Amino acid sequence: MPTNHTSPYLPFGDQRTAAWYGKDIISVKQFTRSDLEYVFGVAHEMRGMVARVGTFDLLKGKILANLFYEPSTRTSSSFTAAMERLGGSVIPINEVRYSSVSKGESLPDTVRTLECYADVIVLRHPETGSAAIAAEAASKPLINAGDGIGEHPTQALLDTFTIFEELGAGQVDGMTVTMLGDLKYGRTVHSLARLLSLFRVKINYVSPEILRLPKEVLDEVDAKRIPQAEYRSLEQVLPETDVLYVTRVQKERFEDPADYEKVKGAYVIDPEIMKAAKKEMIVMHPLPRVGEISVDFDDDPRAAYFRQMEYGLYVRMALLAMVLGKA
Ligand code: CP
Repeated sequence: MPTNHTSPYLPFGDQRTAAWYGKDIISVKQFTRSDLEYVFGVAHEMRGMVARVGTFDLLKGKILANLFYEPSTRTSSSFTAAMERLGGSVIPINEVRYSSVSKGESLPDTVRTLECYADVIVLRHPETGSAAIAAEAASKPLINAGDGIGEHPTQALLDTFTIFEELGAGQVDGMTVTMLGDLKYGRTVHSLARLLSLFRVKINYVSPEILRLPKEVLDEVDAKRIPQAEYRSLEQVLPETDVLYVTRVQKERFEDPADYEKVKGAYVIDPEIMKAAKKEMIVMHPLPRVGEISVDFDDDPRAAYFRQMEYGLYVRMALLAMVLGKA
């Protein structure tokens, strides 16, 4: 998609910058609809700046500690790229077994250590609630990059930004979003369902019985009076879908490997299946994929998942600038 330099969002430099200075980003529940307009306005400007000049010195002299206790390609490298494109630098800790964590250092002590050297901490950790615990220990801003099966708020922000940029900022109200696959363990869908409930959307959930969205998330969306329904078959809802959000079955989170064998490969998106979908819609995926979207579909203009990764760079640039008071 070409960069649109006429922003459909709020003006860059809006007074809400101050509201995010020094703040942690732990959950999408922290964001209002107006906050999203602000974040996406800044991200849109970042997109334009990267296209025009590549790298600039907004965060020159600032340091990010990128602390990952779980594997990551996109989140880790896009936060690194975001900081470096803004002129800052990064302490990368992607292999915690080579850090003092392997000697038994606690998470609170580890973040207390890193904030002596860095201005902001990005954390991915396998335990739900770990980001909140770490943020409590830290006095510098901490950004949750995924806590177990809990939340992945920056992913939900970039997902929603993708929808805005691809389908139009004014088009989200009235859309039908269908989430497909592992809705139990997929933290990205937990965050995205919560965030989309700020809009007048309809949400369909398609999953095997054992991978249904947690009741807690369904109840939260219900409380916002968002129409939502669960299905086992995609065919029922594909023709009405504006955004198809596909997820990987998260093998690493199953207690019983036999259960994984029962549901792996339950849904595969390919050109044949997509004949039933609208011409103007998008297919998204947080990635990595392991077969749930056929590579034969990659050249279809509706395949937005590679563009989605790039939007993540701009959203993470915006978030870093906001919490460091420079947006
Ligand atoms: N989408 C996502 O979180 O990807 P990574 O696990 O590669 O960071």
